[in-house]
Order: sequence, then structure tokens, then C-alpha cells
Amino acid sequence: MKTERKRGLAGAVHVPGDKSISHRAVMFGAVARGDTRVKGFLPGADCLSTIECFRRMGVEIRRESETSLTVKGQGWEGLVEPSRVLDVGNSGTTIRLMLGILAGRPFYSAVIGDESIGRRPMDRVIQPLRRMGAQVDGRKGGSFIPLGVRGGSIGGISHRSPVASAQVKSCLLLAGLQAEGKTVVEEPSLSRDHTERMLRSFGVELSVEKGRVSLQGGQELTAQYVRVPGDISSAAFLIAAALIVPDSRVTIREVGLNPTRTGIIDAFQAMGGEVEVTVTGEWSGEPVGDITVSSSPLNGVEIGGEWIPRLIDEIPVLAVAATQAEGQTVIRDASELKVKETNRIDVTAQELRKLGAEVEETEDGLIIQGKTPLSGAVCDSHSDHRIGMAMAVAGLAAEDGVTVQNAEAIRVSFPEFERTLHQLSSGGS
Ligand code: S3P
Repeated sequence: MKTERKRGLAGAVHVPGDKSISHRAVMFGAVARGDTRVKGFLPGADCLSTIECFRRMGVEIRRESETSLTVKGQGWEGLVEPSRVLDVGNSGTTIRLMLGILAGRPFYSAVIGDESIGRRPMDRVIQPLRRMGAQVDGRKGGSFIPLGVRGGSIGGISHRSPVASAQVKSCLLLAGLQAEGKTVVEEPSLSRDHTERMLRSFGVELSVEKGRVSLQGGQELTAQYVRVPGDISSAAFLIAAALIVPDSRVTIREVGLNPTRTGIIDAFQAMGGEVEVTVTGEWSGEPVGDITVSSSPLNGVEIGGEWIPRLIDEIPVLAVAATQAEGQTVIRDASELKVKETNRIDVTAQELRKLGAEVEETEDGLIIQGKTPLSGAVCDSHSDHRIGMAMAVAGLAAEDGVTVQNAEAIRVSFPEFERTLHQLSSGGS
């Protein structure tokens, strides 16, 4: 994929459905009783991996269109021992949440994924699942795929996660629902809370206090209608593009505005970006609205602490915007970036330097000096969808544009990305 220096991005567009919510709709629907209808589903590679895994466990999932589907759940007992491996592809959310479901099911399963998943740590969920009584093993003492899971009767635990991770929290809550007794998960700061919201809408009783979620085991889920809002993590690429491309004004409609996800909007506003948000409603317990962005002169910003989990996936594109901001941008407390689809601290810095940006990696983040004119270059996604899109956005402000190699990775979360950028470049809606 190649992007070129532009002026005047314009128009109103939608972004595809939220990835986190799409995964959960399929998984919760698969273990609920009845038909869960999902509208606005993200047909990205990651969510398709989730569908395929649950089909292999005997769940009927009908796709009425690219973005509409019905999950025909038959309760927890409806899942059957898969005769083939469960392949999560590139998806960390699929593997970690699914492990919570498998932990309580009385059967054996083998779980694999791609090369990137092969490098990502699973011990953060496997250790607490073992404490609950599940038998899970894998490479290097159970830290890495391929994994073997023998689930069955498990007991509730109290777990204090050292990292703010929605995948850890959700995994343990899904196991906890099948466990004997109570499960409590504490996290150092609040990670995205889609699981808590959606479980409630599926009829689960849970209690939420600051940084602490608990529930009683032995609960059934009841099928629901889930309308998935646009993914703010995908919208972030278009927001950044509109901010740094001169003379732009872009609206992104019907985006999820869950406050545990809107850290990127706060960051762009703190940098001086003109980003207006209008809440238009609530879909399946999630606030939704429109975002209008105009090109703006930006200043550097310092980001850390509880802000980080609220924009963790947006840091690569935030770094791109920071190269076009006056002064220094400091991102700290973000060492979780090292264990995403790639080591996003290293890869973001490495790719941005190819364009002449001044970026320095630190132990737990990045320091970016702006404002730097960007030159053209050939960049690489490193098979990481968000790196591919971030570099394509950088190309819109780069003297000779950017060629992104291995751009097919973008299919993981935003299959229509190139077409959407093209639409905004030609000012259409
Ligand atoms: C996700 C949680 C986050 C995020 C990922 C999606 C989820 O990961 O980075 O893209 O859907 O629960 P962690 O929970 O590992 O922080």
C-alpha cells in the first residue's frame, strides 16, 4: 500500500465495528442460551478467527451478511470437544478470552496461533487459571503456544493482576462464571470494561468497584441483540490523518465512546487538536457518537499512568501525530506495548526514524521531538495491523509519501482502511 502527501481530507465516513465488542458478542453468544443477533460485526481477520474457533466447538454461527450474524448458543454445555486445533491466528483477545471459557469445559483442546501469538505471553492468564484448578500447559512451562487445555470443575479465586489488562480480567471472569464460589479480579487501573457491560446485558450479575470486579460462579447467560459501534481504535487513524493533513475536516459517525477507550481523544485535544465529540445514543450498553476533526496546529504532550490503558492501542498513531507537533511528546508507563502484536515501542521508533522523525525508545515508552518534516520512505508493518496503518497515515504528511510493505496485516482490524482513506482524499461521503 502507498500513501502520498495530501491536502484537504474531507467527508463523513463510518469505521468498521469495534474489535473488542465483536469478539465478545460471538463468545458470549456462543455460551448463552438462545439466538444472539449481532449487527455491525467487524469482519476483520481476528474476529473471523473467533468465529472459526467456536464453530470448531460445535456452535452454529450464521453469517447473514459481512457484518450481521446470528450465534445459536445452547448454554455452556453446548460447547463440545473440538476434534481439530483451535487456531486463533493473530488474535490475542481470542486466545486469552477463550482460555477462560475452555478452563471450565470438561474436555481437551489444543490451541495454536500465528508467529506473533507465539511470542506473546500467556502465563498472565494461565497461572491464575491453574490456581482455579484448570490443567493448562504449553511451551516454556505453559507460557507460550501451542497450548493444551483440559478444563473441568474449577473454583473461584481472588486475583490481583500486575497489569491493567482487559484480556486478563475478561478471561478470569469467564472462567469465574463456570467456577464454584466467587471470583474477584483486581487491576492496577481500569482497563476497557466491555466485558462487564456486555455480561450484564446477557443477564449476569457482577459487582464493580474501582479497579475490582467480582462475580459468583454458576451463572448462565441469556442471548441478546448486540449492535456494535464503530471502533474508536480504527477511527484514531482517521482522526490523526485529519489533524496533520492541512485543510481537512472529517466526521466519523457512530463510533463507540466508552470512556475506558477515549484516552486518544483526550490526548489529541490536550495537544491542541480540534476534535469535537457528540454523543448520539447508547447501543447495547455502550455510548456511541460522532467525531468531527479539523486540521490543527499541535503541541507535544506527556502521557502516562492511568491514561495509558485508555489509549494503549493508539500509541503508534499518536506517535505519528507527535512528529508533527511543536515540542516534545513523552509517553511513559507503556511497557505493555512490548508484548502486543509486535514490540510496538521498538517498531514504532524504527519505522518513524526511516521518515526522518526524531524518536527515542525508553524503558517504558517513547520520546518524540517535533515538529519534523517527514521524508518519503519504504516502511514495513512487521505484520502488525496498527503499525501498517500508522505508517500509512504518516505518508499523508511525508514529502514523497510512504510505501507500506506487508500491508495485508491491516485486514486484522480495518479491512476497508485503504478505501476509506481514498474516500476522504477525494472529499466524498
Ligand atoms: C483488548 C484488550 C487490550 C488491547 C487489545 C484488545 C480486549 O489488550 O490491547 O487490542 O479486547 O480485551 P490487553 O488486555 O492485553 O491490554
